[in-house]
Amino acid sequence: MIKTIVCKDYDEMSKKAAQIVKELIINKEDSVLGLATGSSPVGMYKCLIEDYKAGVISFKNIKTINLDEYYPIDPTHNQSYRYFMNENLFDHVDICKSNTYVPDGLAKDVDKFCDEYEALYDKLGGADIQILGIGRNGHIGFNEPSNELIDKTHLTDLKEDTIKANARFFDSINDVPTKAITMGIGTIMKAKKIIVVANGENKADAVYNMLKGQVTGMCPASMLQKHQDATLICDELAYSKCK
Ligand code: GLP
Repeated sequence: MIKTIVCKDYDEMSKKAAQIVKELIINKEDSVLGLATGSSPVGMYKCLIEDYKAGVISFKNIKTINLDEYYPIDPTHNQSYRYFMNENLFDHVDICKSNTYVPDGLAKDVDKFCDEYEALYDKLGGADIQILGIGRNGHIGFNEPSNELIDKTHLTDLKEDTIKANARFFDSINDVPTKAITMGIGTIMKAKKIIVVANGENKADAVYNMLKGQVTGMCPASMLQKHQDATLICDELAYSKCK
């Protein structure tokens, strides 16, 4: 079962999610954080930066491993997920950049890279916590709806809907990469604890299907119903169809 915390708005959602990460870091200063991009976790990262600046937490011994990255994309591109992580968290805290892992959007032998990323995940001991957003179609990471979800880190084609949803960040829809490297569903499920953050009415269907729908590859987030410690933290709008 997925535990659910419904918050009044984005700010409260961000604070609640950050609180859980903060407690983890306080209890285990060398935690491995599985991180996500997208607009949903930005507020949570802001709260964590504030906690760092207030001297409540340090990232000195933290390692991070990100869910996904567009492919191909240069890590210096302002829409790459590496760039996003630097801008929204890493550049503002005392983390050692060499302890932060994001899939390589320029990997030459991409299949080999994916195998190595999966092995790296295991070598780190797995994520103590995995942060997730959710796509409007229920995707997590870039695991798009499919009857044959892939377990391990892999290269995937993005669905039209996802390309359209993400086009807002690019100059034109033609600039949105059509592929991505993503942790697989099995990789995500290996995390000891999972937090999904979701806000806004456009996530209401996905949230409903994740919490109340059948466990099906057609809503990848519904797989989290099988995880032993998964929590959804969402705002009222995202929860509106579950009432
Ligand atoms: C992208 C990312 C996901 C993210 C989703 C939702 O496609 N690959 O990891 O959860 O979009 O993004 P947002 O939080 O901006 O709605």
